[in-house]
Amino acid sequence: MTILVTGATGNVGRHVVAGLTATGEPVRAVTRTPSKVPEGVEVARGDIADLGSMLDGVDRVFLLWPHMTADGADAVVSALASRVSHVVFLSARGVTDDSPLFHARIERLLRDSGVGWTFLRAGGFATNTLEWAPQVRTGVVRWVHGGAGRSLIHERDIADVAVEALTSSAHAGAAYELTGPETLTQVEQVRTLGAAVGREVRWEEMPVAEARESLLAQGWDPEFADNGLAYWATLVDRPETVTGVVEEITGKPGRRFAEWAVEHAADFR
Ligand SMILES: NC(=O)c1ccc[n+]([C@@H]2O[C@H](COP(=O)([O-])OP(=O)(O)OC[C@H]3O[C@@H](n4cnc5c(N)ncnc54)[C@H](OP(=O)(O)O)[C@@H]3O)[C@@H](O)[C@H]2O)c1
Repeated sequence: MTILVTGATGNVGRHVVAGLTATGEPVRAVTRTPSKVPEGVEVARGDIADLGSMLDGVDRVFLLWPHMTADGADAVVSALASRVSHVVFLSARGVTDDSPLFHARIERLLRDSGVGWTFLRAGGFATNTLEWAPQVRTGVVRWVHGGAGRSLIHERDIADVAVEALTSSAHAGAAYELTGPETLTQVEQVRTLGAAVGREVRWEEMPVAEARESLLAQGWDPEFADNGLAYWATLVDRPETVTGVVEEITGKPGRRFAEWAVEHAADFR
């Protein structure tokens, strides 16, 4: 039986495809652009809304929801529940039953659907720091709350846990909080990126009001922007914690941010 991978060309999904392929599992990759999928991997071309039409011969699914709301998820989850045995869903750390995040709504839909599930509640991705790439090139990163501590996770660690959850029955009904193996302040992250590209990169604190304007100009929803800024502020005094779940499940320590930075150095040069 085949494992269907959604978000198969993204930060996490492409490593899920590679990991499953390496274990010899039959994989089908969902994308709207088949040329982005490595040769030799079976492709299901289409939109997540059409997932029901991609499930022939599929037994398990890696589900990544690519939208900012859960609109349309009911039909997708119904299709999954009627056709497959297990769904590994890429959720978000901090999700609770009454959370307004779309991840919480999709978790509830999956729980209520009767399908087997595993939730990967991932914290902030190391890839989020790619936002700083243009500034790293100038040698100065300006943003808010340099002292905010985050336990960013390497996308391959999320994928490794996903592969484990898709290929073993031991993770049914589990909701895992996934983080990186260390907490670094944003100032330390920028310093680490500088070391990876071989130049000194300095942090400059930006006023919160200016950061808010910048997020709104990038198209962020005002409530989402305010929540994000308020959250980053709390991390100065109460930095994100490290869970160690990646190592418990994969048997290998989580990858450090410095490793991610070296792998992605070319993106910051
Ligand atoms: N960034 C974080 O810190 C963080 C933390 C926790 C959870 N998350 C969650 O992680 C997910 C993002 O993961 P990622 O960074 O790996 O993704 P990504 O790199 O942004 O890639 C998005 C993927 O979704 C696919 N996609 C986009 N729109 C689609 C559509 N309408 N139908 C079908 N496929 C579509 C894209 O495929 P094609 O373009 O090839 O079709 C691509 O493979 C989100 O659900 C986010 O909420 C993120």
